[in-house]
Amino acid sequence: MSVAAAFRERFLDVLASIYIYNEYRGYTSLDRVLEAVRARCPDQSEFIAAVEKHRGDERKHYTMFRRWFERQGLMPLKVDRTCGHIDHFIQVVFGCTIEELDTRAVIADGDEFEKLCRVIMLTEQRGMRQVEILLHNRHVLSDPVMTRLFRIVERDEPDHWMPYHAWLTENGRVTARWRERFETLEWLLGATTRARAALQLLTFVYRDVGSHGDDRAYLIRRGQVRACYPWPATPIEQEAFRGVVSEELAQPELPAGPLPTDSIEEMLLVMSWFRRHPEALRKTTRLEEWQ
Ligand SMILES: [Fe+2]
Ligand SMILES: [Fe+2]
Repeated sequence: MSVAAAFRERFLDVLASIYIYNEYRGYTSLDRVLEAVRARCPDQSEFIAAVEKHRGDERKHYTMFRRWFERQGLMPLKVDRTCGHIDHFIQVVFGCTIEELDTRAVIADGDEFEKLCRVIMLTEQRGMRQVEILLHNRHVLSDPVMTRLFRIVERDEPDHWMPYHAWLTENGRVTARWRERFETLEWLLGATTRARAALQLLTFVYRDVGSHGDDRAYLIRRGQVRACYPWPATPIEQEAFRGVVSEELAQPELPAGPLPTDSIEEMLLVMSWFRRHPEALRKTTRLEEWQ
């Protein structure tokens, strides 16, 4: 496989993994939103129907990306909430995770409900712009199935922010006052998500298969090789290796200030190696699985 083809494959793999996570997060969170909308606006059947449609679309998108992997007999790469746009947004606006969001408080308080509507509206508007960009991306366009998936998402997307926007204007909650503040925040969150996604995807235990059973385990964190041992095959070795991983996880995430030059070089080296050997990413496991 040429480097270009390997990179393209890897790009689509990462992209679809991030989408499958966000679509799943979207439709399951919308169950909570529906609960709030039904309780807060019980007589606004049009608004309720629009949120139901939104929920249905996100579930459909999730299924489409899921099939994309199933057809290839692959599992998506492991992605967590550091790659979830809505996760970051809820955290910043409400100061908690999606799971911790107090639906009853959102239902009882008009200002909280307004915040929820704004978060969804801006997340969806951002999603729409993102799809527009992706539909000009040559890797996406080189894959007819992936292109078709994004065309479907593009078609569905406008329906997703409009109902919340309508609620805000109908209820005299002026949108312009917030827009500027949110757009800056939204841009920042987008940049953070991308940077975190890139680093997060280079954090794992990699099993390098040797030719005579001399497999090795590389502990890679944020693109840096932190430890290298013979692959732990026996329970005792596994126990010892788990200890190594726990020790690593106990270290602080990233030191403050600029990264030292040698660590950047190593990161780029590790990145380019996995770019050239994308199939190797299938031999990786999350650090958390070794705890
Ligand atoms: Fe979607
Ligand atoms: Fe959407």
